[in-house]
Amino acid sequence: MIPYGKQHISQKDIDAVVAVLKSDRLTQGPKVPEFENAIAQYCNATHGVATNSATSALHIACLALDVGHNDIVWTSPITFVASANCALYCGANVDFVDIDPCTGNMSVTALAERLKQANTKNRLPKVLIPVHLAGQSCDMHAIYQLARQYNIKVIEDASHAIGAQYQNTPVGNCRYSDITVFSFHPVKIITSAEGGMATTNCANIAQKMKRLRSHGITAEQEQMTEISHGPWYYQQIELGFNYRMTELQAALGLSQLAELEHFVKKRNQLATLYNDAFTELAISPLSQGTSCYSAYHLYIIKLPTPNKEQHKLLVEALRAKQIFAQIHYIPVHLQPYYQKLGFSQGDFPQAENYYQQALSLPLYPDLTLEEQTYVINTVKSLL
Ligand SMILES: Cc1ncc(COP(=O)(O)O)c(C=O)c1O
Repeated sequence: MIPYGKQHISQKDIDAVVAVLKSDRLTQGPKVPEFENAIAQYCNATHGVATNSATSALHIACLALDVGHNDIVWTSPITFVASANCALYCGANVDFVDIDPCTGNMSVTALAERLKQANTKNRLPKVLIPVHLAGQSCDMHAIYQLARQYNIKVIEDASHAIGAQYQNTPVGNCRYSDITVFSFHPVKIITSAEGGMATTNCANIAQKMKRLRSHGITAEQEQMTEISHGPWYYQQIELGFNYRMTELQAALGLSQLAELEHFVKKRNQLATLYNDAFTELAISPLSQGTSCYSAYHLYIIKLPTPNKEQHKLLVEALRAKQIFAQIHYIPVHLQPYYQKLGFSQGDFPQAENYYQQALSLPLYPDLTLEEQTYVINTVKSLL
């Protein structure tokens, strides 16, 4: 089976992990801060906070922005459930903003409309979580302007988008957000096996996220409630978690980071090849904004119109031919758990249409020309 995505692991990556295994520190050593600094520097942000997944980074990002009971968080319905669950973990309510069907990202028009309505009902969200679907940044300038107008904080879910650019600057620089979150799951652009990272330009937010990822504990005198009892002393000053990244993961992530530009370039080349091959067909790729350079985590094509049966047939036929096409994503509000929270079919029509049109084809740096040609020819003959 040709998968829709997979990691590229080099001998250099293996050596980096083995070196940590042979060292004294498997966790809480020098590699995690080194990785945090390297990502922050790459993104042009001031701080990086590494975690054991993007899910945990999203959770502590919400907490660092004081999301709690009775607060509201809005995200996109076309995302992995973690983008919404992070708010539920904090006891907040989740709602969604429908997508722009051309890009699959949060629609700025829908956002502006919903904010206007929410404002009149006093139901504004505390935090917005736009998701950079498939590696292409949302229109962050417009989203940030709206967020500022209504005094709302912004977390970019850039799980798909390390190495992407927006307005010629790296996604993750937090120019138009409070926090950006990346995922290093193996199907993503670079991997640390499991792992995540939050970037921010706010020292207080970074400090809070670092504390929350490690039980709410601090060893810093200025955060303590009394004079330290001695060099062993620490205090738990809030309820945190064990969301720490290991040294093994950080070493792998650091080694992979050195290849990031190369990986993203290769993904863009492969996407261009698909685009060129499909120009004559009825299907279309997600459209790309002029301010965006996508990291191309996914290569998503869409059928011309929503068609449940044809869509299913195409995915099944591709899988029967050993091409593991996948759907990104089932709209979150249609998940049974979210239906129990009160969401229903029809709430976000663009997202629901998109679900019956979109599918992801194989895209990863090691996809060979032969494999890609096979995918292209198979898609053409099936259509
Ligand atoms: C958009 C999005 N957000 C969050 C996550 C969660 O990432 P992780 O698996 O690192 O927790 C994913 C993972 O697939 C994702 O695609």
